[in-house]
Amino acid sequence: MAAVDLAGPLAAVALPAGARPCPGDVRDSAFWAGLSEQLRAEWPQLDLLVNAAGVGATAEVGGLPEAQWRRVLDTNLLGTALGCETFLPWLRATTERSHLVNMASIAAILAPPSMAAYSASKAGVVALSEAIAAECPRGRPGVTVVCPGFFHSGLLDTWHFGHPVQQREARRRMAVTGWTAERVADRVLAAVERNRRYVVVGAQARWLWRLKRLAPRTTTALIRRIYRRLG
Ligand SMILES: NC(=O)c1ccc[n+]([C@@H]2O[C@H](COP(=O)([O-])OP(=O)(O)OC[C@H]3O[C@@H](n4cnc5c(N)ncnc54)[C@H](OP(=O)(O)O)[C@@H]3O)[C@@H](O)[C@H]2O)c1
Repeated sequence: MAAVDLAGPLAAVALPAGARPCPGDVRDSAFWAGLSEQLRAEWPQLDLLVNAAGVGATAEVGGLPEAQWRRVLDTNLLGTALGCETFLPWLRATTERSHLVNMASIAAILAPPSMAAYSASKAGVVALSEAIAAECPRGRPGVTVVCPGFFHSGLLDTWHFGHPVQQREARRRMAVTGWTAERVADRVLAAVERNRRYVVVGAQARWLWRLKRLAPRTTTALIRRIYRRLG
């Protein structure tokens, strides 16, 4: 297994036995090319690619700095696209089963207020995953796109908040969820086993996902009302 992350954080993490740390920035195509060359020289095949790097920013459109738009879109969407662009041919060439997992978010479907950049980046990840699935009709690789609601992680530590109320609410939601990164990972691995396309994690996320498909405008109105109550 090769674990990709920015150099500093990766050095601080205890990886499982046999996992190789591969420090790099997912926004950098030269990094992906170097990683591919290195792994292809050593590994006979690639079984699974998981694109999970992500960052976020909260502010209404009209109030989010350009630098944040670029940071979020470049990391979440371009970073995922470059990972797919680099490794998809190898995944497709694998003679046994192979699988691609892309981490999106329930925000991709719901597009809550103040989360336009994050939602747009993750909606792009959903579209990218669906396009790849359409390009690989015989399931080589299988494609799974994950749309979780809140789970415990370090995501909010690097999140840009335009207003303290948004930060308080995000931290409150993350604090009360029963989902951990390990539980999400177990759910994702089970979905890979069953070759499921969509994994929506969390009861509320699943409920809202269904509602959005049945009644998109009502869902947007409901979300707007919840957001207004936050002040
Ligand atoms: N936690 C949630 O509630 C939630 C909900 C829906 C979707 N997600 C998605 O789930 C995925 C995993 O996030 P997480 O919640 O586990 O948060 P996390 O612990 O912050 O993990 C995200 C990882 O991405 C890394 N990263 C950020 N920018 C990078 C870059 N340019 N190059 C390489 N690595 C980079 C981060 O490195 P650093 O250690 O430097 O930050 C971090 O290790 C993300 O795509 C996130 O959007 C999370």
